[in-house]
Amino acid sequence: MSRKPVIAGNWKMHNLQQEAIDLTNGIMQELKSEDKALLPEVIIAPTFTSLYAANKALKDCGCGKVRLAAQNCYYETKGAFTGECSVEMLKDTGCEYIIIGHSERRQYFGETDEMVNKKAKSILNNGLVPIICCGESLEQREAGITDYHIASQITKALRDLTKEEVSKSIIAYEPIWAIGTGKTCDSVEANRVIAMIRNVVKGLYDTDTANSIRILYGGSVKPATIKEQMAQSDIDGALVGGASLTADSFAQIVKGAICNSCV
Ligand code: 13P
Repeated sequence: MSRKPVIAGNWKMHNLQQEAIDLTNGIMQELKSEDKALLPEVIIAPTFTSLYAANKALKDCGCGKVRLAAQNCYYETKGAFTGECSVEMLKDTGCEYIIIGHSERRQYFGETDEMVNKKAKSILNNGLVPIICCGESLEQREAGITDYHIASQITKALRDLTKEEVSKSIIAYEPIWAIGTGKTCDSVEANRVIAMIRNVVKGLYDTDTANSIRILYGGSVKPATIKEQMAQSDIDGALVGGASLTADSFAQIVKGAICNSCV
């Protein structure tokens, strides 16, 4: 079964509005001569404050090659939740995807598996796609509990979702020790963990659902690593941090995921 590759840029807490516009335009310029049908699904995730500006730049270009994501959301629909944004609000700014459960949100902002599950439900109820992050710390890896920990994160994140909802969702495996460190997880090992995640989905649902869900790798992805990563059987793309902050390096990663070039 063939799954459409996904390359998503998580800008984290970077870029003022004009910088976001410039980067968005720069990415589209770099991808201008590429055939849209061959490109992976290309996603950028600016901060909340730049979503409107980035969406306007995407619409003004009209090429439809790049889509918008938010880096977080709140699961309630409205009310007295100072500082939060609902999924409907993010949809209103043009978002089609929302990243949830990123290790930085779990570590610094107390996001739990239960919150990730509630956010996933709210995102899917609004017709958007959750990008559900999971990953182990160095201590967990050294203690030999990587698979157990990730299986638990995924099982809790997907609780009570239908198989149709799970088929549409995206998972990102991001080993915490590989994020922002320059230490990319070995492709064969990343593929092993991602295949394990697919097997967890198969156990919770069925083979079709497991074969439909896209599972990305994230953690120090660079132009130099993407082809080897894309050549693995179960890696469907990348969630890119640092290397998504310049148009040139992000576009090189996108081009590295064009199906013809992944061999
Ligand atoms: P880096 O690519 O900077 O390691 O970040 C990965 C990440 O956290 C993407 O969400």
